[in-house]
Amino acid sequence: MKKKWLIGNWKMHGNLASNKALIESLRAELPQPDERATMVVCPAFPYLFQLAELTKDYGVGIGVQNVSDHLQGAYTGETSPLMVKELGGSYAIIGHSERRQYQGENDGLMGRKALAAIDAGLIPVICVGETAEERDSGRTHEVLGRQLDAAFGYIRTAHDKIILAYEPRWAIGTGIAATPEIVQTEHEFLRQRIAIRDKEFAAKLPIIYGGSVKVSNANAIFSMPDVDGGLIGSAALNAREFVTIYRAMLATMPAAVA
Ligand code: 13P
Repeated sequence: MKKKWLIGNWKMHGNLASNKALIESLRAELPQPDERATMVVCPAFPYLFQLAELTKDYGVGIGVQNVSDHLQGAYTGETSPLMVKELGGSYAIIGHSERRQYQGENDGLMGRKALAAIDAGLIPVICVGETAEERDSGRTHEVLGRQLDAAFGYIRTAHDKIILAYEPRWAIGTGIAATPEIVQTEHEFLRQRIAIRDKEFAAKLPIIYGGSVKVSNANAIFSMPDVDGGLIGSAALNAREFVTIYRAMLATMPAAVA
């Protein structure tokens, strides 16, 4: 069985004091993460350095929620993936639906950002997902396929340098997660679509699910064969919930991973 991932997207929450308290609670709940499953937290940009310091001797990865599609230059207000790397980040969420929705990001930009992240040595966590209206009108696969092709059309990299996240927009922050069956169907669709280009890469690529993952649904979702982990929003802001979800994920895995 493959390794799994649990990534906490803190969104625009936190401050110096609450970040410190959250990491202290995480460490109290879970002295060290298990080697079968990588745990990552993604704070807002200004706290990247603080989080890198707080987790120095703690086996949790650090990521950001966005990066520039450029490595350097006259791009006011942008953050280079090289800067993220220098300050201790290893992951970058790319193309989150909240950025598509509120910042007008599109598929092409997502692909360029993923490429820049890879160039800087970060692991991009590329998000794809349909809206409720797209699902209701039977266009889920058309949308997922388009988003996927836009991102992966640019990218030539190894399966362990990239993560794909399925995050249906209707499940994000709504408390209504996709059912385990829907998650499995869409993960399988995404994996098959990637397999058209490269079978081995597709089989090994981590595909994680995000959207209202909670303690109550974690085990059922993570038990699905094509689910390699989770991208967690609100539940990642509570150490006990985040660790309980992490343990629910471990419970779906054998004692050792390949
Ligand atoms: P929620 O877990 O709060 O639904 O958010 C999911 C998400 O957007 C993670 O990136």
